[in-house]
Amino acid sequence: MRWLPPSRKRSASLAMDSELLEAEEIYREHILDLYKHPHNSGKLSSYSFRRRELNPVCGDQIELFVRMDDNKIAEAAFIGHGCAISQASASLLTDFIKGKSVDELKQITRENILSMLGIALGPVRMKCALLALKTLLKGIEDYEAGN
Ligand code: FES
Repeated sequence: MRWLPPSRKRSASLAMDSELLEAEEIYREHILDLYKHPHNSGKLSSYSFRRRELNPVCGDQIELFVRMDDNKIAEAAFIGHGCAISQASASLLTDFIKGKSVDELKQITRENILSMLGIALGPVRMKCALLALKTLLKGIEDYEAGN
């Protein structure tokens, strides 16, 4: 790494901080936009599995509907109520899973969700962010168990 005098290092670090803040602001706006205009909102009249989960701490809910075709996700939709992060996360997840196989769904990690959301979250908000993924993974368990 190139040597920089302390004053140049400080201004380079400030520039990086402001770029990070700007990026986080863009993600924040995107989350609010998804909250107001969710993707894949509603019920599916025909589905391969459906699952409802709630965050016991706040009572927020996600009900997920998934229709499989040829062992891939053909359609996914959700209804829910709750905070902007839980609802935006459900929008992002239902977009992300389309066309994927059950095995691919099982590989989705919390890091995938956090990177889609793009903002730093504390432990309380983490539960909000992961509610949709928890719902999906429980739904897959039901589906595989034939429930
Ligand atoms: Fe309830 Fe976020 S506050 S899921």
